[in-house]
Amino acid sequence: MTGDGLGEPFASGREADVYALGDGVVLRRYRNGGDATGEAAVMAYAASFGYPVPRVFRVDGPELEMERLDGPTMAAAYLDGKLSLDASAHIIADLLRRLHELPGRGGTGSIVHLDLHPDNILLTGRGPMLIDWGNAGDGDPDFDTALTALILAQVAIGSIEHEIGADAGTVLDLLLPLVPGDPLAKLDDVVAFRAGQWTMSPEEVAALPTAAARVRGTPMTA
Ligand SMILES: Nc1ncnc2c1ncn2[C@@H]1O[C@H](COP(=O)(O)OP(=O)(O)O)[C@@H](O)[C@H]1O
Ligand SMILES: [Mg+2]
Repeated sequence: MTGDGLGEPFASGREADVYALGDGVVLRRYRNGGDATGEAAVMAYAASFGYPVPRVFRVDGPELEMERLDGPTMAAAYLDGKLSLDASAHIIADLLRRLHELPGRGGTGSIVHLDLHPDNILLTGRGPMLIDWGNAGDGDPDFDTALTALILAQVAIGSIEHEIGADAGTVLDLLLPLVPGDPLAKLDDVVAFRAGQWTMSPEEVAALPTAAARVRGTPMTA
């Protein structure tokens, strides 16, 4: 119970609860405080280039009101037999490429998402759309790509529990030849960054070198 009239969230991730407000609007609220102002600005900036992101209506501290998207996550669509691993890899590569074409707002680098994985992609009637922009900002595109690869590898080796399991490794293998830039260039920095994320358990942190090795060991030619 939330005690504030919102009822039960219709979806929850590791960091936020999402409530339906009706009229095609959802409220996403960080459970542990946090400020959504920055991510709302990045979302609006990306949207101004036509990037597929939900429209933001209101932001107030940990609360973000945005357009409700209709459709399953990429992970759910795959588990439901509605999307192949190959199609998944192409969609991820395309979202990374299009995102990294957006110039950074500070004059260097590009926009980066820093949490681009199959649970943060919704397959809608308007095509695949990217959600969960809490880590997004200006940055190094290769860093962003390496982080996506590392997350897939964490699932592939069983460090992060997910129904997709080892199939995440197949997506990783299919993805690496498709991505723009160099997905390995910033992998060491990404491991350090990932180790410092509060969502990572000590066990997950301990397994990061194995996950990084899984990224490096992936055949680079399909
Ligand atoms: N704009 C939206 N429209 C519809 N569903 C959404 C939207 N944003 C988030 N969700 C749902 O809420 C879940 C959690 O949201 P997300 O932003 O990924 O939070 P977390 O940081 O907790 O992972 C998503 O997997 C999705 O099912
Ligand atoms: Mg999420």
